[in-house]
This record gives sequence, structure tokens and C-alpha cells, in this order.
Amino acid sequence: MPIFLDCDPGIDDAFAIMVLLGIKRLTLLGISTVGGNVPLELTSLNARRVLELCGRGEIPVAGGRPGPLQKTLVSAEEVHGRDGLGNISLPEPAAPEAKGGGISLLVDKILSVPRAILLATAPLTNVAVALAEHPEIRSHIQRIVWMGGSTSFGNVTPAAEYNAWADPEAARQVIRSGVPFVMVGLNVTHQVALDRATLAHYRALGNRVAATAAQMLDFYVTFHEQVAGTDRSPIHDAVAAVAAVYPASLRTAACAVDVETTGELTEGATVVDLRGLVAPERPIEVGMDVDAEFHLEVMRDALASFA
Ligand code: BDR
Ligand code: CA
Repeated sequence: MPIFLDCDPGIDDAFAIMVLLGIKRLTLLGISTVGGNVPLELTSLNARRVLELCGRGEIPVAGGRPGPLQKTLVSAEEVHGRDGLGNISLPEPAAPEAKGGGISLLVDKILSVPRAILLATAPLTNVAVALAEHPEIRSHIQRIVWMGGSTSFGNVTPAAEYNAWADPEAARQVIRSGVPFVMVGLNVTHQVALDRATLAHYRALGNRVAATAAQMLDFYVTFHEQVAGTDRSPIHDAVAAVAAVYPASLRTAACAVDVETTGELTEGATVVDLRGLVAPERPIEVGMDVDAEFHLEVMRDALASFA
């Protein structure tokens, strides 16, 4: 199963990379990064840091767009730490960035296989640019699986989820593109929670990748403890990653979806027609329910697979 990842590491993006690398049934073709949780230089460096930690420095990484199509980038250091990885000071990677930039890498790798899954765990800026400038990739994308949006509450505003809100124009373009699209929104990712006991299990696995995951996620759990008063923390991007590899673990509903780009109170909100009031030409597969136990098991087994 060939997968290409577009991401903005970001603690949950970094965890998603670790999980993907620990699942044997897939091939990670490459990683493009985008400005999001932290600026582009850091998201790119962080992706390479994580690959190196996992002994997979040969997987190509390149930075794409530094910021949204129209808005100014608003990053999220309070959630992910100054370095984007919970301030854990992972060493500099030996492998340099791939030449040519993130958009070229995404396009080349998607074209290199007949059908690939494009997993996006970040604002959709790179994906929007790639689809607009290289329409030839459309037929090579089996589906885009995106962590973003929500059928209900937001996290950056009451109405909007961060990845949709950070670049609503890009999200709208990609969702309207007609390329098969699965939305894994907050309504789904909040069904799977890590807590301090889970982190203790990761530490007990006794390998460096799992220990680093626990260290990094500790920052994330502390943030959620402060805002929500519980250590049960969503790990959004890792849920989208597992759902991309195991589609049966996610129940979806086919709906019309669009993204609000200018609302006074609702900028970046995903408007999901759950009641089927409009008939979309190409419906979006909207994630509704996820098998949380299975997801946590896949994540733990993936971490356990590292030596
Ligand atoms: C999304 O926003 C980012 O902060 C996370 O990495 C995730 O992709 C959750 O809203
Ligand atoms: Ca992310």
C-alpha cells in the first residue's frame, strides 16, 4: 500500500510518522511538509529528525509552501512546543532535504505508482498547489485522507478546526476538486484518547522510538490537561494515519462538504450536509465513528515493532 504524507510536525504528525513506519503493510513513499504548527523550516527538519530516529533516513522529505494561499500563517507553538516536538531536542538528522522542494516531491512520488493514498495531516496548502499545477496527479491518487475539519465543534475557534482554519482557501479547493476525499475531523479524532497510563505503556516497550514518542507526547498531554482538565488527549493525525491504512476502522457518511472562507464567526468551518439537503456531484466521505480500541492497538503495536 503506497502512501505519501503531507504534514506539519507537530507532535501528533511526528507520532503519525512513527506509527506509519511501524506498520508493515505500507510503503511510505515520501514526506512533504508545510508551514503550520511551526514554521516550514522546523516542520521539515522535524520530519527528518523523526525518520532518522526511526532508522528510516532514506525516505525523502522536502518542504513545500511556507504558509497559506491567502492568509498569514498562524502557528501553534503553545500546543506543540517551540521546536514543534514538545521541546525534546531531537538530534539533527544526517540526511539532507530532497532537492526540488515539497510540491515536486509530492508530484513525482504520486506519479511513480499507479495509485497512491495521499495522507494530509496539515493545512492543505501543498495539496491544493500540487493539484492546481499538476492535474496529471489526480488519476494517480486513490484517495486523499485528511485530518481536518469537523462535523461539530472546532478547536481553534468554536466553529473551526486548525488545519481547515489555517488555510480555508486551500481546504475548499481540494474538497471541491473531485478527487476522492475522506475527512477525518475532530468529531472522529476526539473518539481516540491517549492518557498518561498509555504513555507509561509506551515507555515500558523498552525501545528508543517508543520512549521518544512518550517523551514528546507528554508535552501534548500536559497541554490538553491545562485546557480540558483531563489527561485524555486526542492524537488527531495518528488517527487519520491509522484510518488511511485500515479504512474499515472508520465509519463514514457520504455528504456534501464545503469550507467557510469568510464567515465573521465561522471562518474555516467545514459545512457538512449530514441530512442530505443538497445532492453533491462527488460526495466527500465524512468520518463519523472510529474503532478506538483498534486504533490504540495499532499505535502500540507499531511502536513495539522498533528494535
Ligand atoms: C490538527 O492541527 C494541528 O495542530 C495538529 O497537528 C492536527 O493536524 C488538529 O486540529
Ligand atoms: Ca498536523
